[in-house]
Amino acid sequence: SDAGKLLMPTWDSACEGLLRGRDLLILHGSNMGTCEDFADRLLATCEGLGMRCRRAALDDVVGADFSRVGARVELPKEGMVAVISSTYNGKAPDNAVRFEQWLQTADAAAAIPGLHVACFGCGNKQWAGTYMAFPRRIESNLLKLGAKMLTEMGEGDADSGQAESAFVSWKLALAASICKAQGIRIPLAIRESLNPSAPSFEVVLHLGKEARDIEGVDATQILEDALARAKGSFLKNCRAWVTQVSLNRELLTDEAVAQGRSTRHIEVDLPEGHGYRAGDHLGVWGANPDEVVAAHMDYFRLPHDSVVSLSLLRQSDASCLVPLQRKTDVWSTLAYCFDLQQPASMAQIEVLAPLAVCPAERADLEQLSSDAGCHAAKVLAGKRTLLEILTAYGSVKLPFGKFLGMLPAMKPRFYSISSSPIKCPNSLSITVSVVTGTTPSGRKHIGVCSNHLKEQPRLRPASVGLPADAEHYMPLILFVKDSGELFRLPEPNVPVILVGPGTGVAPMRGFLQERAAQGARENILFFGCRDRHEFLYQSELEELQASGYLKLFVALSREPSVPKTYVQNLIEQESDLVVDFLQRGARIYVCGDASRMAPEVRATFQRVAEKIGLGDSFVASMVKQGRYCEDVWA
Ligand code: 2AM
Repeated sequence: SDAGKLLMPTWDSACEGLLRGRDLLILHGSNMGTCEDFADRLLATCEGLGMRCRRAALDDVVGADFSRVGARVELPKEGMVAVISSTYNGKAPDNAVRFEQWLQTADAAAAIPGLHVACFGCGNKQWAGTYMAFPRRIESNLLKLGAKMLTEMGEGDADSGQAESAFVSWKLALAASICKAQGIRIPLAIRESLNPSAPSFEVVLHLGKEARDIEGVDATQILEDALARAKGSFLKNCRAWVTQVSLNRELLTDEAVAQGRSTRHIEVDLPEGHGYRAGDHLGVWGANPDEVVAAHMDYFRLPHDSVVSLSLLRQSDASCLVPLQRKTDVWSTLAYCFDLQQPASMAQIEVLAPLAVCPAERADLEQLSSDAGCHAAKVLAGKRTLLEILTAYGSVKLPFGKFLGMLPAMKPRFYSISSSPIKCPNSLSITVSVVTGTTPSGRKHIGVCSNHLKEQPRLRPASVGLPADAEHYMPLILFVKDSGELFRLPEPNVPVILVGPGTGVAPMRGFLQERAAQGARENILFFGCRDRHEFLYQSELEELQASGYLKLFVALSREPSVPKTYVQNLIEQESDLVVDFLQRGARIYVCGDASRMAPEVRATFQRVAEKIGLGDSFVASMVKQGRYCEDVWA
């Protein structure tokens, strides 16, 4: 169709077809879809250079001596392969587990001396122990099998906000290495050619009376349809459902709430046939706050009751929930489908630059999109969003459909489930710390998911003007994420030590419900919070203690009447009890902050163990045996 033609990347003539006929297999390992998006973008770039590309999940590879039902591509003995993957708690992402198993057992017969590989890893440096662990293992195992390195491994560190620019640079380096390996001179123009124009949506707007008369604008229905489409990609092994909360209550005292703090206990009913296990996570699809959605609609001068039909002009983002080819209200589409609060990326700004009518603004935008240092200082440091950039550079004329195509898809967030299926077989709960703050540029930042949860049941504002019989609530999209065997309770006769400061107490609450139901009494919990106003689930925990199911220790870090105490201080103070538990084969569970708390807690357990001569690798060996389990986040 004509629409399709619009989207053919407009390659500079010097680069078009530069690598014609060369083959590239692009493999991705992805839980959240980021690496899958990067794989798509690499594919678009390389196809523009004339390469024949295929893209697949790592688990869709059939190794040389390895076959399984459903596998789709062979790992070639020669040629070029790019691998883009994240790490999940040090392990392979869900769609790369079998590939790793194969890689670890591959022997000389599987040698691939003719294969050239390039790897890019996504991670977060705050996860000190496991940062880049999986992509590094992939690379070193492929090299062990004789593969040659095509270009240095790329590292996208989400913590520094540089993942995007690192990917663009790696992609550039990869294309340059391929040229070099093929004996092709790298033309200057390749730099610009390496950023294909963003995908774009064709937008048909229905305004005013026309919008009001449209039937079938029902958020739940739209989301259910979109979910059905998404099942093939990021929801492959999960079953999502659309629902509303059954309970949403504050866990902090009124005093804390008056100071702007909030932690919510959220309960939802499980639909027929859905289950979970203590230690699992709940995937939650957020929706942008009203003021953020309104600001975007106002910038594009869209009345808040606009209805839209969208067609995607170039399929690029399989994980996106955008309802296509059907009438849907712009409000819900912006709220659910796109992440509107991310800092603007260099690739996005590169699309804006030529659209600036004013030459000075254009020059500025060109610099922001090509100079990583400048981008870091002027965009990332202030966490400035695409809308903030558009507002600051008033001469940029950006059509709404193109804008939508540039936005990253909304991604689910994961929360530890804080209930046990033995106690609550038909419902589950999560424990949500509500995120709000002010960015360095002065924008009010409202955490997408935690605020959507806090607002439940959330009504759409009246200005969206839906027909009286339509669904006015903004429902939740949820799915249970099986956490494998990483974070599971032992047999009831094995003692456990739980460490969960802040909302890290969530899975511990689920564990304790389960242990009590099993009659297992050997449980210690180290909980920590700032002051008594943040003592989550205080009465429940004290009841468990009173009935003999729990030894409870609470570290208060900012309570005026007591010295600042962290959970690790209490672990040290209670070392006799801890040692007694460890000597009787206790397992340790830690949940919460990955950057400082988790490593400090680990070091403390190690010190306690060493004091009684348990050896300098005691904790390390517990980790290896799966007896020291962490569920931590950055
Ligand atoms: P703080 O904010 O007063 O420093 C839950 O967030 C609790 O974890 C708070 O009491 C917080 O204390 C505490 N905390 C902060 N840093 C920590 C660390 N490195 N180790 C253990 N607890 C920590």
